Amino acid sequence: MKLGEQEVSGLSYIEQKRLLVDSLLDKYLPRANSYPQMLHQAMRYSVLAGGKRIRPILALTTYEAFGGHNDNVIHPAACALEMVHTYSLIHDDLPCMDDDDLRRGMPTLHKKYNEATAVLAGDALHDIAFDLLAGSGSAAAVKELAQAIGTYGMLGGQMADVEAEGQEVSLEQIQYIHTHKTGALIRASVRIGGLLAGVNEKTLARLTQYGEKTGLAFQIIDDILDVEGDQSKLGKTIGSDCKNEKATYPGVVGLAQSHDDANQLIDEAIAISREFELKDNHFVILARYIGQRDN
Ligand code: IPE
Ligand code: IPE
Ligand code: MG
Ligand code: MG
Ligand code: MG
Repeated sequence: MKLGEQEVSGLSYIEQKRLLVDSLLDKYLPRANSYPQMLHQAMRYSVLAGGKRIRPILALTTYEAFGGHNDNVIHPAACALEMVHTYSLIHDDLPCMDDDDLRRGMPTLHKKYNEATAVLAGDALHDIAFDLLAGSGSAAAVKELAQAIGTYGMLGGQMADVEAEGQEVSLEQIQYIHTHKTGALIRASVRIGGLLAGVNEKTLARLTQYGEKTGLAFQIIDDILDVEGDQSKLGKTIGSDCKNEKATYPGVVGLAQSHDDANQLIDEAIAISREFELKDNHFVILARYIGQRDN
């Protein structure tokens, strides 16, 4: 359904952006009836299952806040971030990783289809992401994403996460895991928005800090929700970390301190965003949302 202008204006900023991202993802994904149908249907199943779309919204917000106005540049770039994120979720849920059955309120992809299809759909989303991002015409943006999700970024974090199962970890180790497995892509989402808008070095450095703080807070809250969340809202199985003996932030510092640390990171991110002196500071709305989310 296409919403009329009046209906759109009644929605919150985040909801408006989410609807935009949802419609763009649908447009950029391969058609379900094109060969190989099963693979295309599987990709569409996971991406279009929903999701908060926080990474593309961060990129769109940053781009627009700093004067970017070319939808042909930012729309594919924003969707590239969501495609990569969804690929990481599909692989993260596999039996050889976190072995989870529920994602975005639906059976995980390997449960709905099979493991081979889940591996291939994840790979395919990774590939389509780089195709889309290359379309932005910015080699810097392509490099940013490649580095953020590689062995010095998200994959490094995922490897450390797996290695830490059943182990006692220090605060330094859990911070490495969280800033890499999750923080790196969130940081890159903000930076790619900034890079494509052509911000100066000083602004990019501040954006980087904003992304780092919200990124770490995001994963601390993910860990908290695995303990305290409501499964029907979260759309994934509560207690998965405990079942897998995962190293988690609450496991290292306790739940109360985890809440405090996440709140402090969100406050710091908001303070950084105020330095931008924007008329409409959507970075505040996004940071608060990340801090208060229940799904
Ligand atoms: C879940 O990400 C996995 C993490 C990196 C913490 P999200 O909480 O953003 O999941 P969706 O995209 O909204 O489903
Ligand atoms: C996932 O972390 C990080 C990536 C997918 C890169 P989690 O394993 O904690 O995410 P959930 O809880 O399954 O969404
Ligand atoms: Mg995991
Ligand atoms: Mg997981
Ligand atoms: Mg988790």
